[in-house]
Amino acid sequence: MDVVLRRGDLATRTAGAVAVGVFEGTKRVSGAAGALDRATRGAITAFLKTGDFSGRPDETAVLYPATGKARRVILVGLGVPGTMTLHRARVAAALAANRARELKAGTLATIVHGAGSGGLDPLAAAQACAEGAMLGHYRHTAYRTAPTLPALKRVEIVERDAAMAARVKPAIARGAAWGEAVCFARDLAATPGQDLTPDDLGRRAKELARATGAKAHVLAVHELERIGLGGLLGVGRGSVHPPRLIVLEHGIGARGRSQAPPLVVIGKGVTFDTGGISLKPRENMHKMKYDMSGAAAVLGFFQALPTLDLPFPVVGLIPTAENMPGGRALKPGDVVRMMDGTTVEVTNTDAEGRLLLGDALCYARRNYSPRAVVDLATLTGSVGIALGPHAAGLFTDDDAMAEALERAGLASGERLWRLPVWDDYLPSMRSDTADLVNSGPREGGASLAAAFLKHFARGLRWAHLDIASTAWTNSSREAGSTGPTGFGVRLLLEWARNEAASA
Ligand code: BES
Ligand code: ZN
Ligand code: MN
Repeated sequence: MDVVLRRGDLATRTAGAVAVGVFEGTKRVSGAAGALDRATRGAITAFLKTGDFSGRPDETAVLYPATGKARRVILVGLGVPGTMTLHRARVAAALAANRARELKAGTLATIVHGAGSGGLDPLAAAQACAEGAMLGHYRHTAYRTAPTLPALKRVEIVERDAAMAARVKPAIARGAAWGEAVCFARDLAATPGQDLTPDDLGRRAKELARATGAKAHVLAVHELERIGLGGLLGVGRGSVHPPRLIVLEHGIGARGRSQAPPLVVIGKGVTFDTGGISLKPRENMHKMKYDMSGAAAVLGFFQALPTLDLPFPVVGLIPTAENMPGGRALKPGDVVRMMDGTTVEVTNTDAEGRLLLGDALCYARRNYSPRAVVDLATLTGSVGIALGPHAAGLFTDDDAMAEALERAGLASGERLWRLPVWDDYLPSMRSDTADLVNSGPREGGASLAAAFLKHFARGLRWAHLDIASTAWTNSSREAGSTGPTGFGVRLLLEWARNEAASA
């Protein structure tokens, strides 16, 4: 499916469906929607008069006008006038594309929501609408034999003013690319563990690097042994699919050339988390194929990097393993030695994410002098208990970094909420046998995990995002469909873009 800009009049576009936004309390629509109303001999006005549609942000309706070029008119609510946000524009576009696909409309024509009377910056709103159209249209179809819902061929965003059309065109292209990158991440996270092993993930990273002009190295077990990534190796030991460290580099030049410090992003890549010997309960275990959502976010971010013009390099690190019970698997009580020499007593093999992330943080410190490091991980069930599905947990000691990430979260609609990583958490992660344990008390679990990571992030400008609360959605309303959300891709892109502007 393509999202493209079209110059012209919405009211005269031939399309399977035409979508317009309607604010709460609207009696008579204006602008492009007004022209559409006239072209359909007042179909929209007549419908609004029934009172069956109030314009709430989650509302949609479909009209079948007897006259005009549009076979269907989709109305989407924009909420109370004067309260418009980018996120609401994005969701409106998503709802319209979702509905158009359900109606098998073939093509959808719409406008930039929220830019006119909504008061949003037209470029930002155009990008948000293109993103939303991609996201709402998305379905994971790889394993269906009967594709009941054919994809739309095209979403056209129509603008009648020539100068404005020229301005929003690149913003729409960027939004489409960012949306596509999220869909790529969603597809990866929705792929069953059998078809996405650490090796498969490495291959996908190499393909991606080839297509986007990045470099990818995939470190095999003997290399991991040589440099001592005992946490990653330990987690992977129970599986027949060996662990890997994927290293992606974008904009890192030949050695010896002066080089700006890179941004480093790290993604947890547990391709399936059974819990290991500390086996998870059987209910919902199938969802643990998405325990590589952090890795998927990093790969999606890299896919869309060509849309940014960054004055610094970007490095992606993906420690990836399958957490399985098995004859060689880690046992509770085993001690692993991490890359920096820290010894960790594995008191719960289900707390595997921090083991491989700890090693990746050491690797970042050893091999780069990062300007900043962000890791994304479906790390704890506990963050979902704290926040529910509306925000991911943000953990950092760096206030400036927290602020920049929170701002990117608001703009992208991928919200973050800061939780503590005080040093006070660490004493309950001390071991009688080794330096640390990998699992402490239940209380404050998300902060305990973050404090464990902080030990390995010492000396780095670092933030940790626990995305276990947001990487999967059970509501199809905003995301278009239930399942993996691709959370983090647009957040990272927005953050990197802002970092570039202030670099
Ligand atoms: N991948 C899980 C975290 C998770 C749980 C993600 C639910 C998404 C939904 C992680 O590896 C894990 O098992 N964490 C444990 C840690 C505990 C053993 C200290 C948890 O949260 O229960
Ligand atoms: Zn896990
Ligand atoms: Mn686990």
